[in-house]
Amino acid sequence: LEKVAAIQFDRVIDIAKRRGIIFQSSEIYGGISGFFDFGPIGCLMKRKIVDSWREFFLTPEDRIYEMETCTIMPEQVLRASGHLKDFIDPATQCKGCNSIFRADNLIEESTGQFVEGMDPVELTRIISEKGVKCPKCGGELGPTRIFNLMLATNVGPVEGSIAYLRPETAQGIFVNFKNICGSTRAKLPFGVAQVGTSYRNEISPRQWLIRLREFRQMEIEMFINPKAEEPPQLRQFSHVKLPILTREAQAGGGQPIELSVEESLKVLPNKFLAYFMAKELLWYQQLGIPKGAIRFRHMNPNETPHYSKGNFDMEIRFDFGWKEIVGNAYRTDFDLKTHMANSGKDLTCLEGEEKVLPHVVEPSFGIDRTFYALLLYSYRDDGRGWEWFAFPPRIAPYLCAVFPLVSKDGLPERAEGIYKGLRSDFDATFDSSGSIGRRYARSDEIGIPYCITCDYQTLEDSTVTIRNRDDSSQVRTSVGDLPEVLGGLMRGDISFSAAGKPMK
Ligand code: GLY
Repeated sequence: LEKVAAIQFDRVIDIAKRRGIIFQSSEIYGGISGFFDFGPIGCLMKRKIVDSWREFFLTPEDRIYEMETCTIMPEQVLRASGHLKDFIDPATQCKGCNSIFRADNLIEESTGQFVEGMDPVELTRIISEKGVKCPKCGGELGPTRIFNLMLATNVGPVEGSIAYLRPETAQGIFVNFKNICGSTRAKLPFGVAQVGTSYRNEISPRQWLIRLREFRQMEIEMFINPKAEEPPQLRQFSHVKLPILTREAQAGGGQPIELSVEESLKVLPNKFLAYFMAKELLWYQQLGIPKGAIRFRHMNPNETPHYSKGNFDMEIRFDFGWKEIVGNAYRTDFDLKTHMANSGKDLTCLEGEEKVLPHVVEPSFGIDRTFYALLLYSYRDDGRGWEWFAFPPRIAPYLCAVFPLVSKDGLPERAEGIYKGLRSDFDATFDSSGSIGRRYARSDEIGIPYCITCDYQTLEDSTVTIRNRDDSSQVRTSVGDLPEVLGGLMRGDISFSAAGKPMK
């Protein structure tokens, strides 16, 4: 952990840009802050992260359906959901240079005082009492005002028909609840998931992929009977210990306490939260985030979202501090109730003879933030300028790269044949340009776990070398065994030394 805090984070950003992982959006025109694009390598990896999440969380036992709804929604939806009134941040403008800042962040950074959720009058008073000044020009800051975080747009040619870019994917699920129940005929508990883009007009986007104006989410809305005791699958996870930072510990500057899933039920506002939290802890560890860098923080009342009866957000430790990666909210019947009242449509479902308005437990995953954590915790260097990402094999953009040792004597053709043979079963790539050392370096930079090299011996006995990204060690394996060996390595069934004959 200490090592991560000390990483030259600039190195990660440099590789991410140079190797097509993440680009600043519209960069040739200077871009706008808070917008980033996934390059060719980033896009491959994002797809794998989402696939891995689907496999882990959207299991048939959980009965979680997936849907995809529009990103632009009419004003009525977001008025009913409370976002028009409550989805706000405090802003202050410099009287000198006119720059606008988030007042709470500014105070926290210059005084260390945690003030998220305080009202604008309080924030204005603290800025003046503590002498907080404009970080750009040192000028005096104006009064704090409330600013709505939604991006508005006009739909159709008529001015004034305002709609909003959705601030969360969740609302598309709630407004479809009746359609979902009718078409799936699912019984409670069941979930609906959505992967997609959401938008927030952040006052001061920052910390690279953390605070974005356009961002990607993976959300699950779990619909439950309010009388339900606990998820049927909860006991599968009784061995998991959850690091929970209670409100008391936060107030006293204390550390998280490790609670078993059973013990956590006493502090969580809903038992279904424990189920998702246990799975989150396991999934992020699979991505390579150490357990010590993960905690679940009980949000204080003034930071809890307006729709939630209690949040235990999963946070990861970054180079600059702890940040929320997964919001875990107990949304109760807040959303369905308000949409029922405002649309006039019945959103209850039948449980036996009884009409029930379900409650909702929501884990909401930030994809961009997950990506940032993955890059940070996978970054390695040997202290002599050799850098690589130790991505898990299933998340790496490619499982393997196939190279000819040199670009002559039929080796490129032989290597290409091997590459084409592997491509239907594995994510493989081919590269024949530049020295073999350069190609190893380039493949390490994008975290490809295995490089397969075809050399003169290949022409004689149909064996190739496999190089392990993490320690540069090599084994020699016959071409015919490659599918079995690569499959075993990907699944973690075999160790690298068992992948072939060790080489010096
Ligand atoms: N749906 C919760 C969030 O976007 O934060």
